[in-house]
Amino acid sequence: MVSGGLARSAEIPNPLVANLLGLFSQTFDATAGLVGNGIVTLTREHGLAKHLIAAPFDIHPFVHEVARYDPPVHNTRRFAREAVEIEGVELRPGDAVLVLLAAASRDETVFENADRFVLDRRHDGLPGFGAGRHACPGETIARAIAAGITMALAAARFDFSNPALHWTYRASLNGRIPKFTFTEGNPQ
Ligand code: HEM
Repeated sequence: MVSGGLARSAEIPNPLVANLLGLFSQTFDATAGLVGNGIVTLTREHGLAKHLIAAPFDIHPFVHEVARYDPPVHNTRRFAREAVEIEGVELRPGDAVLVLLAAASRDETVFENADRFVLDRRHDGLPGFGAGRHACPGETIARAIAAGITMALAAARFDFSNPALHWTYRASLNGRIPKFTFTEGNPQ
């Protein structure tokens, strides 16, 4: 994992509310981002939607590679409980570390040709779902939902190359979640 900027943490007034907000945003927003980033991929990788109809089991490596190549969650945070030194940086209690999960997904020392979308890539762990004690327990569910929705769109012959399909990204501190519109011309 790559550690980024350090900042003083704010007091969290109600940990239960904070955790519930986190749960809802992970389940809804992050899964919407995974579905959306898959759609974006299918607009760019011509012929892939047809391939998925012909080889439906490839939907699983497809979703896996979308989650690596264009992950919906870009970062998470850790807070120092006590004074600690990490890679030469001294942290005081309450200091925050921004963990750039998306950067780890493009780490060439882990993923060969990391900047390329490779459908039949060997399946290693996905940094975008976290790791260790707080790794995402919803990964399998999220990937299954994304696989089902993407296959339903492909089977319904959704036109991923429709020039009227445009998207922007929702304002977010850690999510990459596209919002789609159908409009003639480019509205951006
Ligand atoms: C594409 C969809 C999703 C992505 C990319 C994602 C990503 C993540 C990441 C990166 C973490 C670790 C956060 C950290 O260490 O600070 C996490 C934790 C978590 N995720 Fe997800 N998640 C997704 C969907 C879901 C779903 C569908 C559920 C529930 C059904 C879920 C439930 C949770 C929970 C409860 C945690 C906290 C685990 C803990 O702190 O012990 N996530 N997720």
